[in-house]
Amino acid sequence: MTTLTADAATPDAGDPADSPLVRAARGLAVPHTPVWFMRQAGRSLPEYLEVRDGVPMLEACRTPDLVVEITLQPVRRHGVDAAIFFSDIVVPLAAVGVDLDIVPGTGPVVAQPFRTRADLDRLPALAPDAVEDVAESTRRLVAGLGGTPLIGFAGAPFTLASYLVEGGPSRHHEHTKALMHGDPELWHDLCARLAQVSGTFLRIQAEAGASAVQLFDSWAGALSRADYRAFVQPHSAAALSAVADLGIPRIHFGVGTGELLTDMGAAGADVVGVDFRVSLADAAARLGPSYAVQGNLDPALLFAPWDVIEAEVARILAEGRAARGHVFNLGHGVLPATDPAVLTRVTELVHRLTEHPA
Ligand code: CP3
Repeated sequence: MTTLTADAATPDAGDPADSPLVRAARGLAVPHTPVWFMRQAGRSLPEYLEVRDGVPMLEACRTPDLVVEITLQPVRRHGVDAAIFFSDIVVPLAAVGVDLDIVPGTGPVVAQPFRTRADLDRLPALAPDAVEDVAESTRRLVAGLGGTPLIGFAGAPFTLASYLVEGGPSRHHEHTKALMHGDPELWHDLCARLAQVSGTFLRIQAEAGASAVQLFDSWAGALSRADYRAFVQPHSAAALSAVADLGIPRIHFGVGTGELLTDMGAAGADVVGVDFRVSLADAAARLGPSYAVQGNLDPALLFAPWDVIEAEVARILAEGRAARGHVFNLGHGVLPATDPAVLTRVTELVHRLTEHPA
């Protein structure tokens, strides 16, 4: 197994810009289908629990030594084809001064929900020097990872707005939708600010050397297509456009977004993330030849017997061939109780089933 250290004197050779992940995102030939897992860094790994012991989540995200170590853990253990920057979608909101916490077992909780125009005063623009540590962690990671690409990420305006307006995780997003329809002008002003925060957070990571970025619009699947187009897509497009000139692949993902795939692609993505509800063959047919796809093994199936997982992986790889390019991933994040040995085995299986002789 490849061993990586944060300050590796001889990191893996190779150019991350020519890695299987970046090539698949561009629809180019690959030596094997690249694989990484959303939430690959986190509670499924004992080495993560060990270094996080006693350190609050937001503090861990702002401590470069921890960010570098936690980001590298799943790359070392599983041999995945990409690292994802260890942080959280609410880190840039906390950095501009929003009073929030990440509560274990719950998620982000905002002290005072955003509901009125006066609340916009609590959401100033993100200046790069407010997250200088993020640039530093990124640079150190890029140096340590060598040929393995680092994926930078941000939360999309709608998903961020949902946390701000609801005050925390929400099943129905009722306050968010009430604001969207009840005061569209305030909604658009809020999302324009969030697009600036999100786009700046992506750009900081990209300029510091990330090889790709992913915009997480995790909860966009709660919207009708008409609402997505009118109230959300322009702001996600603005966030993604913040890195357009850098030429790195842009991945756009949401849960339950089968009806929104083409609109999410058109927001400015090269790769559209697909959850487990839609087959990759259907996703590719909807998206057409301009987009690669990412996904989409159901994370719950990692708890099934191995022969079930093996058949699912083979099916997903076969369906992914219909797309311009395929990045293997889960349909959503790794569940905390997942046996990490299964993730390593899935990584090896994807590689073995797709390896081309040189
Ligand atoms: O490995 C990776 O994917 C990189 C790190 C990462 C985290 N959060 C770390 C994290 C990424 C990319 C995110 C994004 C994120 N955060 C999203 C979008 C992705 C998705 O899952 O849809 C969302 C919606 C959030 C908000 C959030 N933060 C939630 C829902 C939670 C989980 C709450 C819980 O305890 O179950 C968090 C906390 C969080 N972010 C954890 C991690 C590893 C768990 C914190 C812990 O270890 O206690």
